[in-house]
Amino acid sequence: MADPIEAMCEAGLSALDEVRSSESLAAWRVTHLGRHSPLMNFLGDLGSLPAAERPAAGRAANQAKHALEAALSVKEEALRLQELERALASEKLDLTLPGRPPQRGRLHPSSQVLRRILAIWAEMGFQVYRSREVESDEYNFQLLNFPPHHPARDMQDTFYTTRPGVILRTHTSPGQVRVMRERCPEPIRVVLPGMCFRYEQVTARAEAQFYQVEGLAVGVGITLANLKATLADFARCMFGASVRVRFRADYFPFTEPSAEMDIECFICGGSGCPVCKRSGWLEILGAGMVHPTVLSNGGYDPRRYSGFAFGMGPERIAMLRHGITDIRAFWANDPRFLEQF
Ligand code: PHE
Repeated sequence: MADPIEAMCEAGLSALDEVRSSESLAAWRVTHLGRHSPLMNFLGDLGSLPAAERPAAGRAANQAKHALEAALSVKEEALRLQELERALASEKLDLTLPGRPPQRGRLHPSSQVLRRILAIWAEMGFQVYRSREVESDEYNFQLLNFPPHHPARDMQDTFYTTRPGVILRTHTSPGQVRVMRERCPEPIRVVLPGMCFRYEQVTARAEAQFYQVEGLAVGVGITLANLKATLADFARCMFGASVRVRFRADYFPFTEPSAEMDIECFICGGSGCPVCKRSGWLEILGAGMVHPTVLSNGGYDPRRYSGFAFGMGPERIAMLRHGITDIRAFWANDPRFLEQF
């Protein structure tokens, strides 16, 4: 009776020798140790043997079962190690490969110029004041001495909203009245940087959105001479110690008198080139003495206080600086443009 058991055991062990993977090991387990395997069937049928043969047959079958189980766990461990080694070999990380260099970001050219401008004004004691981008018609125009229907409004085509009186600011000047109302009667020295919006036909020279940096000084005894000296000083810090400036009369409803400041063209040094349109001069900002009406709208008595204000465009300055000929590049989000600065 021991022979068939031995045969089953040997068949199992030799089949196990052929097993090369954990999948075929699982199949082997079903065939040789599963519920319907010959050995299990034999154990189940023990009762049909004559009583005298049962103990010996049972013992032999159990020994065979344990032998197969022991061989199975040895094989299992061997396969596990083999498969681990295979995985280690094929999935090996090559630490000597150079990594991919991370891409470094950079500041937008407008932000670079903006920071430079603000740093210069900070040295002269001007604080940064942030004013809102969505404004009221009252602050953007009326308090700045643009009455409703005044033709000067045509200089600044406006984005209106569906809410009456709510617009996108066309310049940073409404911030002047907001600071004055907040600081009155303190003296003021602030710069107001921020985005402005105009309902313009977008061309190489005009965008619907752009930055401005406004400046405002209010106090007792501030004169046009202070305005000229301060702005000339700014130009020398921004464009070089030897740069010459000139002022030309201009018109803004909220300053009186009003002026435009030009700097000597730093591309050609004043002899005339395409950037300065052969004039030798570049216009970089508008300025003037704060209009008495605007001072009193801000809470300051114009008989006692005076002040000057100016407004400049960082994109325009960046364009002049870097010879950029199309203002649309600033908001086109093209890395080939942005990566040059
Ligand atoms: N706000 C004017 C503009 O956008 C510029 C300006 C500011 C002029 C302050 C004078 C004083 O054109």
